[in-house]
Amino acid sequence: MQSTLPGSDGLHVALIMDGNGRWATGRGLPRTAGHRAGVESIRRVCEAAPDLGVRALTLYAFSADNWRRPAEEVAFLMRLLRRYLEAEAARLADSGVRLVVIGRRDRLPEGLPEAIAAAEAATAAGTRLLLRIAIDYSARDAILAAAASAPRSREEMTGLLAGAAGDVDLLVRTSGEKRLSDFLLWECAYAELAFVDTPWPDFDGAALAACLDDFRRRDRRFGGLKAA
Ligand code: IPE
Ligand code: IPE
Ligand code: MG
Repeated sequence: MQSTLPGSDGLHVALIMDGNGRWATGRGLPRTAGHRAGVESIRRVCEAAPDLGVRALTLYAFSADNWRRPAEEVAFLMRLLRRYLEAEAARLADSGVRLVVIGRRDRLPEGLPEAIAAAEAATAAGTRLLLRIAIDYSARDAILAAAASAPRSREEMTGLLAGAAGDVDLLVRTSGEKRLSDFLLWECAYAELAFVDTPWPDFDGAALAACLDDFRRRDRRFGGLKAA
């Protein structure tokens, strides 16, 4: 499997950041307040991840199916993502984070593809953490696109889909739902799954550490037998 990160013995953790809307409405706030609070969780988790043995983090920010939401909520999310990328790129670069955005770019509103490209360029030298943010992402579409270049092996397919991040070791979904919602379907073939009730805006480094503690107690057999 290809890897461009030094010390690439760390984990690839995928996070389905769910529950922003419920977090907000439960407090009598508009759903957008939950999305705004969710950005703070992204900052906290990215800061904590490298010291917890995570080398790659893939965050589900906006699915290809999220276009079905009301236009005002979609527009708010797009503005929030653009602002996050513009405000955060320098700080990410300073802390050794390399940012890569996965998903389609051709349907994004004006300004966002440019902000993505600028943030990717500004952080390209980062080796401490590979941070992948999935925007307008569908795993099934990604698999279809990768298959179109006719990979000849599973490894080649994984390389096309996941690049340096590789297979997912641990997938965490917040806020109680127990489904994948079209996220990283190929890369999660042997991922350990964790479903936590905490809504995304309340998730932080300690919550990630608890998920990793649980992950490290699991017995990953990959079809074989328990290690003696
Ligand atoms: C996750 O929170 C953020 C996105 C999907 C963009 P939701 O907006 O799905 O929040 P809930 O699940 O409705 O509470
Ligand atoms: C999945 O959450 C997508 C993201 C977290 C970006 P959704 O809230 O859109 O998923 P469903 O609709 O509950 O499956
Ligand atoms: Mg949701």
